[in-house]
Amino acid sequence: MLENTIKESVGMIREKAGENGKVIVLVSGGVDSMVTAALLLKALPADNIYAIYVDHGFMRKNESDFVYSHLKKLGFKNENLLKIDAGDKFIEAVAGIIDPEEKRRIIGGLFIEVVREAADGFNLDYDGTFIAQGTLKPDLLESANPDLGKDESERIKTHHNDVDIVRKARAKGLIIETNYNWYKDDVRKVARILGIDEAVASRQPFPGPGLAVRIMGEVTREKLALIREADAIVREELDALEKENKPDQYFAVLTDSLSVGINNGIRKYSPVIAVRAVATDDYMTCGYAMLPHEVLNRISSRITSEVEGVSRVVYDITNKPPATIEWE
Ligand code: XMP
Repeated sequence: MLENTIKESVGMIREKAGENGKVIVLVSGGVDSMVTAALLLKALPADNIYAIYVDHGFMRKNESDFVYSHLKKLGFKNENLLKIDAGDKFIEAVAGIIDPEEKRRIIGGLFIEVVREAADGFNLDYDGTFIAQGTLKPDLLESANPDLGKDESERIKTHHNDVDIVRKARAKGLIIETNYNWYKDDVRKVARILGIDEAVASRQPFPGPGLAVRIMGEVTREKLALIREADAIVREELDALEKENKPDQYFAVLTDSLSVGINNGIRKYSPVIAVRAVATDDYMTCGYAMLPHEVLNRISSRITSEVEGVSRVVYDITNKPPATIEWE
């Protein structure tokens, strides 16, 4: 059944791009865009596919190397693969921005600008080149895409793959959405069928705007450094659980609250870290993960002792709805 929809997707790519069409695929390292890249390699001559990975500076610890090495493993040659380090640009663009939707719009818009510049480097005309994305239907529903009969008031959050500039390109027929008919668990199965590494196939979702939406309020380099360390601890501790006890998604959030604490007898007034861990089938709804207290205790002890400047950790015990999985 999934094999058939894979064939359909490959057929759709060939039909849209034709024999000579050049396609840019924007890869974030998530399973969605990796599947898109793998499907393109299946459908088209490798020389016609250009993979671009933008490190926007909001990636997690060691994440960029992971993504790049797996792209090479998929079969991209150096001349068709570009990694752009655009951290400075993005961090500057969101400086002082507090509102989550504004952060998302700025990052989504700048992303396209950066990719457009990169396309120049490949001598591709961005406006006349196909762009492939790993969009899933729920992304468009949450972004309140008008093609699905949604209006602005129904927008939950803007996904980077459905910002205005993408909608315009989509209207011109230039967007290739290889995963449109699949939900997240289907995409993982497709990844396994295509022989993609398990480390990629089972990756947790990570928002397009990355850690920028896991830092509440203003994003700064210092906060990014702090959340990276705290998040790495949460992931390390929960990665180590047995499969059946492992939540489906887990991460740290840097709240914009300061709280009083004591460290070596000295009063501290420092940021509060929240830990989020959820159990879910489709990410549309979730329950908070009922983690054993000893695991929570280990996470909290490690964060407060290993991450400089943190003296309080809280656990998010909210289901979705009413809360979303991400905090912004
Ligand atoms: P929420 O926070 O809406 O998240 O409950 C549902 C799932 O979607 C992920 N998420 C995103 N994924 N781009 C993505 O590709 C985004 O902008 C984005 N925002 C949220 C989130 O991590 C969760 O798994």
